Amino acid sequence: MDRELRVRKIRNGTVIDHIPAGRSLIVLRILGISGSEDNIIAIIINVDSSRLGKKDIVKIENRELTEDEVDLIALIAPTATINIIRDYEVVRKYRVKLPKKIINILKCTNPTCITNSGEPVKPVFDVISTEPVKIKCVYCWTYLTFDDIIKQLEEKI
Ligand code: CTP
Ligand code: ZN
Repeated sequence: MDRELRVRKIRNGTVIDHIPAGRSLIVLRILGISGSEDNIIAIIINVDSSRLGKKDIVKIENRELTEDEVDLIALIAPTATINIIRDYEVVRKYRVKLPKKIINILKCTNPTCITNSGEPVKPVFDVISTEPVKIKCVYCWTYLTFDDIIKQLEEKI
């Protein structure tokens, strides 16, 4: 028995590894996973990592997340790796990659922006840079920084 193993390996599903420590709950929020699903979800917070010092890991059993679903994680966890597990083996491993546009996830911080005016206009941001993350409202050109993004996502939890 591996003394370091905190949560057992999963048979099938997705492991999101190398999440910066403390951000796993926000990752789940971005994925729309609330805990009311039927499958088992393991969340490990603050585990030692040689690469990151500390990290979080999320293991989602019996569900294979697609690249489109996971790419938004790059907003707050650009170091995350996605591992697809089948019959205990890692059959795919890839890094998350930020999409070019962020649609209807984050709000513009400019109170006079058209997206905050009650009009049926969804917030859309262009991704300007990834590390550090910086995005720009396509309507009013207001910038959102990493701190703005984290704040909004934490408020939603
Ligand atoms: N994992 C799991 N269940 C499995 C296989 C792997 O929960 N059946 C988890 C491991 O615990 C690890 C992650 O999936 O957190 C990636 O597994 P693996 O590629 O075997 O580990 P490493 O080589 O350490 O990954 P990396 O190189 O990405 O750090
Ligand atoms: Zn705006």
